[in-house]
Amino acid sequence: MLKGIILAGGLGTRLYPLTKVTSKHLLPVGNEPMIYHSVKQLTTAGITDILIVTNPEYVGDFVNTLGGGRDFGCEFTYRVQEEAKGIAHALALAEGFAAGSRIVVLLGDNIFETSIRQAVNDFQAQQRGARVLLKQVSDPERYGVATLNGNRIVTIEEKPEHPKSDYAVVGVYFYDASVFDVIRTVEPSVRGEYEITAVNNVYIQRNELEYSFIHGKWVDAGTFDSLTEAHQILLDSADHQKL
Ligand code: G1P
Repeated sequence: MLKGIILAGGLGTRLYPLTKVTSKHLLPVGNEPMIYHSVKQLTTAGITDILIVTNPEYVGDFVNTLGGGRDFGCEFTYRVQEEAKGIAHALALAEGFAAGSRIVVLLGDNIFETSIRQAVNDFQAQQRGARVLLKQVSDPERYGVATLNGNRIVTIEEKPEHPKSDYAVVGVYFYDASVFDVIRTVEPSVRGEYEITAVNNVYIQRNELEYSFIHGKWVDAGTFDSLTEAHQILLDSADHQKL
């Protein structure tokens, strides 16, 4: 059974003062708090055992907003990330929750126009390893950037100054149970973070990283402009019931 993990940490400083009293992931997007989007992405793909990782300042707000999961047809577990040391560091906190299951990891500020259901199915059909989702963008230097050769990813570079392609790695990752061993081998990057890109590069070296393209619009809603865009995407897709 695939389990879901939503990473919803960070102080959202780029959205200050909207984030003065609560998490960016609880701000309104479309007609709901942002985190509802990630929850619904998982539940509509059949994933109902969900861990929320957030920082100590806001965990009470998440519990008050989401509760135990009854309203969403799922079950929530909460974990607190006490230091902001990167995505792979936050994911390491999920090892006990995963308990040997394969996992799908969502960054809670990533908003999608369409469902991730197809990618979930593709991962379930995959024998081993990991899977990332790619999207062609006009500003790849803001993201992890994948270099492709035929149907394989050759490398992923984190926020490269001179991107070798325009394929951004979006914030949805699928891993087998060995991901926690992989995280233990990763060294912090120059920005002092345990990068998810470093984890994905280990899977590339093992020839165990698959990819799919995500269709429709995608936004990483960490800034005022992207938050506005996310809002519009969800209002439009609510009209068309794409999720
Ligand atoms: C993170 C990842 C990056 C990825 C992006 C997607 O960047 O490090 O590889 O492309 O999320 O939203 P962050 O936005 O945390 O700097």
